[in-house]
Amino acid sequence: MVENQETRDKLVDAANGQKFLGQAPITIVACSTESERVMPCGQYAYTVDLSIAVSFMILEATELGLGTCWLGAYDENKVKDILSIPKDIRVPAMFTLGYADETPDPRPRKDLDQIVCYEKYE
Ligand SMILES: Cc1cc2nc3c(=O)[nH]c(=O)nc-3n(C[C@H](O)[C@H](O)[C@H](O)COP(=O)(O)O)c2cc1C
Repeated sequence: MVENQETRDKLVDAANGQKFLGQAPITIVACSTESERVMPCGQYAYTVDLSIAVSFMILEATELGLGTCWLGAYDENKVKDILSIPKDIRVPAMFTLGYADETPDPRPRKDLDQIVCYEKYE
């Protein structure tokens, strides 16, 4: 968890200049050991495990009335340098945390019948 303003400003640079990183009071930097464990489905377990953990953190934050933004657009090595994260640790996700200053309308969603297939992929 990063609260220090100077550090968050450095994270803005590491995240392609995304300014809201410097504005939100907290950035959660989700770290994982880089396990070689690949599930029988062919996916690395650590990225899935971490994404599940982050998703639940975001759901809980939302429940508590906080706003978040999941970040994937950042240079992992720069983030690791800024935060002195060891080489063997990966950073699959980060998210900002704070009280939102706006409450935009939900974005349009596709209808379920456009994204759900029954029985076979089609
Ligand atoms: C894997 C992933 C990476 C993302 N990276 C960024 C990011 O770096 N910057 C950003 O502003 N939004 C990013 N987003 C999008 C926001 O977090 C977005 O607000 C959130 O996914 C909700 O989108 P929705 O309104 O379409 O549901 C990312 C989303 C995902 C799923």
